[in-house]
Amino acid sequence: MKRPSSRHGRARDVLANKPAPGAATLAAASEAVAAVVSGGRAADEVLLDTAERIDRSAIQAIALGTLRWYLQLLPAVGALLDRPIAGLPPNLAALLVTGAHQVEYSRAPPQTSVHLAVEASRLVGAARASGLVNAVLRRFVAERAELLAVASTPDMATPADESSARSSAHPLWLVRQLRAAWPEHYLAILAANNEHPPMTLRVDLAQLSSDDFMTQWRALGREAAVVAWRPGAITLARPAPISVIPGFDTGRVSVQDAAAQLAAPLLQADAGMRVLDACAAPGGKTLHIAQLTPGLKQLVAVDIDAARLRLVEDNFARANAAAQLVSVERLCLDLTQPTAESSALLQPQSFERVLVDAPCSGTGVIRRHPDIKLLRRPTDIEQFRAKQRALLSAGLKLLRPGGRLVYCTCSILPAENELLVGEVLAADSRAHALPWPDALPMPPGLLIRPVGWQLLPGQDAGGDGFYYACLGVAT
Ligand SMILES: C[S@@+](CC[C@H](N)C(=O)[O-])C[C@H]1O[C@@H](n2cnc3c(N)ncnc32)[C@H](O)[C@@H]1O
Repeated sequence: MKRPSSRHGRARDVLANKPAPGAATLAAASEAVAAVVSGGRAADEVLLDTAERIDRSAIQAIALGTLRWYLQLLPAVGALLDRPIAGLPPNLAALLVTGAHQVEYSRAPPQTSVHLAVEASRLVGAARASGLVNAVLRRFVAERAELLAVASTPDMATPADESSARSSAHPLWLVRQLRAAWPEHYLAILAANNEHPPMTLRVDLAQLSSDDFMTQWRALGREAAVVAWRPGAITLARPAPISVIPGFDTGRVSVQDAAAQLAAPLLQADAGMRVLDACAAPGGKTLHIAQLTPGLKQLVAVDIDAARLRLVEDNFARANAAAQLVSVERLCLDLTQPTAESSALLQPQSFERVLVDAPCSGTGVIRRHPDIKLLRRPTDIEQFRAKQRALLSAGLKLLRPGGRLVYCTCSILPAENELLVGEVLAADSRAHALPWPDALPMPPGLLIRPVGWQLLPGQDAGGDGFYYACLGVAT
């Protein structure tokens, strides 16, 4: 039949070719998965590209869910191919795994998910493989119970770590490191890493009580629970956009995990002090320090990343709408290589309080960032350790004798935490560990380590995995 050539004919064509509702969402999610898995990009950064789309929440949920279970779904889908899945074009492999995720986890009937994946193949530039997508995912629907059971059940031929790695969709190296570090807890850690993360708020108690926030929140027909061990921390029953959170736009309320809310109070800062936040961006903890301790003499926020450091300013602009906070001096630099211009602000032994919230593997926040399972390599840990050692040593040099430095990470690997801090203490005879402050309630499940304290993800406290150490220096 001749192709219609009129404008109406073309419009009919376009309509006839219009993908089924949901196919574009699935295609965008699978492109995000490919960008992480094959492009090595962080999911947060990739998903920013979809921020303006009406279906951004659905794209995010599908992409993060697929990344969460990727290491289990990939071999299950791969078993249905007559060639190695690693040899497929990345966009096609990502679409197959994303489609399998939807078959397994979406509330839509499995056949609908298959149909959407077939439609999406056109949108991700894999139209010629639509037959393959259809055939593989149909078989996945029929055989997934056995395919995923193979991935989950330990047997004589599968050592326990490999079985745990497959069933929890974690890389084997990480399972081994977690089992070695936390033999009694590692299975619970693997399970917690696959949970959907809670959304926790920090209410600035100087401006608003938790009760008043709860009243306002319930008036919106929503539910939440106060975190018993951390005053001002409130976990929402369901995540919500920040635009609906009362008090967010004026800084009375911020989004911050309960474990992260311990860093500022651990500093025990007082009015009149100079405080350095050495790895400050995007400024969640800088703002907490400023709100918790009015009357600071000076608050200096350092970060090596200029774009992220601007977010510190945004955070303070939001909060200054309702309260006059100390102005924060922002310095964009590598703390381990201070410049001539920064030297006036960063004099040795000039800060009563220093926070080193060091860059780390993020192994305590995998539930929030499931791409960490796919992006981290075991060799990264040594690189993080080198940075952490340099940053902690630089922080100690800036600390006044009798002052207090808090080192923290969102890692649960001892190599980045107690072992690292122990090595720095051993190399610096002036430095020593300080105790947990008497006035600060310890969260349930806090593990007392040879140096410092560790929270594991989920577990009793319900927060992210976090490590903290408090250090001082002698004259
Ligand atoms: C864990 S994040 C900090 C999070 C921040 N404290 C908060 O609560 O919002 C670590 C930060 O360290 C910064 N960083 C990494 N290396 C640095 C260096 N050598 N000097 C200063 N900042 C550095 C990174 O850019 C990153 O923003």
